[in-house]
Amino acid sequence: MPRRKVSIIGAGNVGATAAYYVAEKVIADIVMVDVVEGMTQAKALDFLHAGPMRQYDVSIRGTGDFSEISGSDVVVITAGLPRKPGMDRMDLLRVNAEIVKSASQSIAEFAPNSTVIVVSNPLDIMCHVAFRTTGFAVQRVMGMAGILDSTRFRCFVAREVGCAFADVHAMVLGGHGDQMVPLPRFTTVAGIPITQLLDKPVIDRMVERTRNGGAEIVAYLKTGSAYYAPAASVAEMVEAVITDRRTLAPCACYLRGEYGIEDLFLGVPALLGKNGVERSVELDLDKEEMDLLQKSASAVRKGVEDLRTFFRVR
Ligand SMILES: NC(=O)c1ccc[n+]([C@@H]2O[C@H](COP(=O)([O-])OP(=O)(O)OC[C@H]3O[C@@H](n4cnc5c(N)ncnc54)[C@H](O)[C@@H]3O)[C@@H](O)[C@H]2O)c1
Repeated sequence: MPRRKVSIIGAGNVGATAAYYVAEKVIADIVMVDVVEGMTQAKALDFLHAGPMRQYDVSIRGTGDFSEISGSDVVVITAGLPRKPGMDRMDLLRVNAEIVKSASQSIAEFAPNSTVIVVSNPLDIMCHVAFRTTGFAVQRVMGMAGILDSTRFRCFVAREVGCAFADVHAMVLGGHGDQMVPLPRFTTVAGIPITQLLDKPVIDRMVERTRNGGAEIVAYLKTGSAYYAPAASVAEMVEAVITDRRTLAPCACYLRGEYGIEDLFLGVPALLGKNGVERSVELDLDKEEMDLLQKSASAVRKGVEDLRTFFRVR
């Protein structure tokens, strides 16, 4: 049986680390594409050389030629620029929207049957760009964010309770920004909601730390942002789609009325399988949780409107 194929557009910190995690689990053959060509070939060769010791024998290629993504089952978009001094949010939006748009055009041309996982920021808005540009079915375009935000929440809960990571499941909905919505009522240790295990001030502190999880790392790094946990989150999603694992995890999905929200990518629980988003799940949110989700949705919608105004993306 031919091996499955994953292409990663943007072989920077997140892209290259995701490639490494995908290789280590022998999930699929990998192509990394980047505009900085030599770097991509170098990383691919370096990964390959580690294969005999790490015991993966997948094919790993680095290239600047976008046509090499042809035949991909999954394409991940991590191409993008970080915000530079003097750039405002709109400048970053414009630069990354153009990068994601051109990546999406290549995907539509060379990998028309693939499922797309968007990682580039601002995440929910970039999902919109990829969705509109590829013209793919809604199930086949999704964004990675909630799975990362909830793994951070999981870490904090496990450390607080003193239990194994594996015992903790966490749920974080909404846009990938400081208005994300960690849900303590839907975060459990061996099935027990943390609201029954921990005091409210402790939970509130963890919720806040989850919201600032990315910023906390940026503050230490100074240049660049987190990539090990983001890359691990990408690999989880890739594996779920490639192996039809039907993982239930929060992802940025295109909403068509769920939670009363239309025509917007936003983080909600989604069942991931061979068709991409097999289905999204509507949780029974209380008023406070729903208000927070709607607030987060409004912030994302504002970004999409800016995009429509400035770049004529539908
Ligand atoms: N969704 C999330 O949770 C999450 C988490 C971490 C990072 N991110 C985002 O992911 C993106 C990548 O982060 P990173 O740390 O890997 O950045 P990085 O700067 O290390 O890598 C980005 C790569 O994209 C490449 N690139 C730029 N334009 C390109 C194009 N047109 N085609 C192909 N490649 C192109 C660059 O050459 C670079 O190698 C950023 O937008 C970042 O904000 C998102």
